Parts: sequence; C-alpha cells; structure tokens
Amino acid sequence: MKNPFYYGGIVSREYFCNREKEIKELKKDILNGLNILIYAPRRFGKTSLVLHSLEELKEEENLKYIFVDLIGISSKEEFINEYFNAIAQSLKKPIDKVIKFFKSVAKLKPSIKVIVDELGKSRFQLEFSPEKAVETLDEVLDLPLFYAKEDKICVVFDEFQEIEALGIENKLRAKLQHHSNKISYVFMGSKKGILKKMFQDKTRAFYRSVKHFQIKEILEKDWTKFIQEKFEKTGKKIDKNFIKEILSITRGFPYYTQQFAYELWENTEKEVNEEIFQKTLKLIMEREEDLFATEWDNLTTNQKKVLKLIVEKNGQNLYDEKALAKYEIKVGSLRKILQILLDKDIIDKTEDRYYLQDPLFEYWLRQRIY
Ligand SMILES: Nc1ncnc2c1ncn2[C@@H]1O[C@H](COP(=O)(O)OP(=O)(O)OP(=O)(O)O)[C@@H](O)[C@H]1O
Ligand SMILES: [Mg+2]
Repeated sequence: MKNPFYYGGIVSREYFCNREKEIKELKKDILNGLNILIYAPRRFGKTSLVLHSLEELKEEENLKYIFVDLIGISSKEEFINEYFNAIAQSLKKPIDKVIKFFKSVAKLKPSIKVIVDELGKSRFQLEFSPEKAVETLDEVLDLPLFYAKEDKICVVFDEFQEIEALGIENKLRAKLQHHSNKISYVFMGSKKGILKKMFQDKTRAFYRSVKHFQIKEILEKDWTKFIQEKFEKTGKKIDKNFIKEILSITRGFPYYTQQFAYELWENTEKEVNEEIFQKTLKLIMEREEDLFATEWDNLTTNQKKVLKLIVEKNGQNLYDEKALAKYEIKVGSLRKILQILLDKDIIDKTEDRYYLQDPLFEYWLRQRIY
C-alpha cells in the first residue's frame, strides 16, 4: 500500500493539511490586488500554501498566475530569462502562439529562443546584448500587464531575497508600483533577516510596500485529525499520545511532521507502539545528524555557548547571572551574539522567549546538553 504521507516537494490535495484560515485570507488579499510579503523558516510550507491558494483561485475566479522561483539566480540576465520563461509558461499555449503573443504586445526586439529538453518540456529564453539588459528588463517587467487587461493576475516571486544581490531592487520597485490594483505581487522567502531589512528599512526601495502575511505552525488538533485519518484509511492505528509526542519534537513544523508520520507509517504493520516510535525517532535523527553536525561546526565557540544557553533556559531569562557564569558569557557579548544568530536565521524570538528556528536541530542539541 502507498504511504499516505509525503515530504520533500510541494504538497497539495490529500497531502495538504488544513491551513484553511490562511488560505481564505490569502485568497481575499490576492483578489483585492494587495502586494504581500510572506516569510517563514525553511520547509515551513510557504510554497505549498501559496500554490494551493492560487490553484483554488484559478478554478473559482479564473485567476491567472505567474510563479517565479528565484533560487540560484545570480545575475540580472538570469532574472530576466527566469521571469520571461515563467510568464511564457503561464500562458499555457503552444509555442508558436506564445511567440506570436509576445510579438504582438511588446516591442521586444530580442529574439525569442525555445529550448526543448529531453522530457519534451520547452523553456523560453530571450537573446539580447548586455547593453540592452536594462531595456529588456523594463519590458519583461511590464509583460504581465498585457493580460491583466482582462484577467485577475498574481505574480509570485519565491525566494525573493535572492534579488538583493542582483542590483535591480530599485528598478523592480519603481516598475511594480505602477501595477498596483491590476496585479497582486506575492514576495516570499525564508531569509527573514534579509527580507525584513528589504521591507522595513526606510532607505530601501520596498519599504512599506506590502502587507506582511503571517503563517504559523499547523495546529495540534489539525495534525491529529490529519495523521489519525490517514493511518485509519490505510488499515493502521495510531494513538493520540504518539501524535502529541511527534509534535513535541517537531513543534508542528510541516516538513518534519510529515517526515515523522511517513517513517512511522512505514515502520508500523498494524498499530504504533513505543518501540516502533523510538526506532523511528532514532532513524530520523541519524539521518539528520550529518547536517546538524555541520551546522554546529560552522558556529563560533561563543555562538555555540549561546545556543546551549537558549536550549537550557528554554529561551527565557537568558541574562540570568548564574547561567551566564556557567557558560562564561558576558552580558554585552550575549546581546551581540543573539543578534548575529537572529540575522543568520538560526534563532528567532517571540515576545517572551528565544528559540532555535529548526525544531529538530533544537532537539538534537538538547540531547547533547543533559
Ligand atoms: N499544509 C501542509 N500540510 C501538510 N504538509 C505540509 C503542508 N505544507 C508543507 N508541508 C510539508 O512540508 C514540506 C515542505 O513544504 P514547502 O516546500 O511548501 O515548504 P517551503 O516553506 O516552501 O520550503 P523551502 O524553504 O524549502 O522552500 C512538504 O514536502 C510537506 O511534507
Ligand atoms: Mg519553497
């Protein structure tokens, strides 16, 4: 029988758990033409949430969307081509029709090249000389406007923080602000430190140009229903307490929770018991071990001390004298190191406590303290 859980790529339909409130709000904002910023840690389910909502809007409201993944983009030219290709793909028309469309709407002087890969999938590229890059960028940025005439449009820039290194932030902002009400832009990414600066720093182009959209962990009651139903439908059983235990380790982080459920299901013939649970936990931790060890090695001694302090004190009362003495940290350097760890997206904080962003990394470290 097929495992009813999945982790790794984007999830939708039967693999998608709840998030109903977020979907409803996001859909409303997109239809209203708002520009939205979504940041959340790695593997938190950002891409899945946004694509799920867009697919629903496509069916219900005939919305058209363009999805651009900016991961790995390292130059203006690459950005132009990635964006152009995303626009072309979203037209969902035969190649000759796509080319005809572009020729009819834009002055695009550069020639359009189509590359077909082994799987028969086509990729659209523009050929232009380096001197024409700025001009071409201008034109490409305005392209979505041409179908915005009749349709509702949403453009998603996934991993938007990558834009920072390309030197096109000002240009992008200047162009996109003229599209307001016609196109809803969704900017998302996992580098909270960088994204916050881009959107909250007064000197930056995108300052205060978006609605900050919060996504939280999926709730215990939603996970419980999701996991229990999937076990039952496939003829297996899991007690609520085990789900509670999973969530106490994964904190409801979508990726890790699905991973845990997936492996637990694999290891279970009829019903989950303590032995199976422990075996699964061990397996998952062994698999992540290398990654966490490398992450740990990349930290300075002081950063390591502060992380231990956070885990030991559960992120609260860090300035407690005894604890500082135990780890030989000075008050002044604690403040600095906390900021560095925040900037590096290793830790985060709520109103009253600090915590490690990655719940399994925190669990791994906890095992090494006590
Ligand atoms: N709503 C959900 N219900 C169940 N599982 C989910 C949900 N959202 C995400 N997941 C799990 O998390 C994994 C990662 O999801 P996704 O790729 O959408 O996250 P992301 O935040 O975009 O990650 P990245 O930072 O790597 O881009 C999925 O493979 C799936 O296992
Ligand atoms: Mg993603």
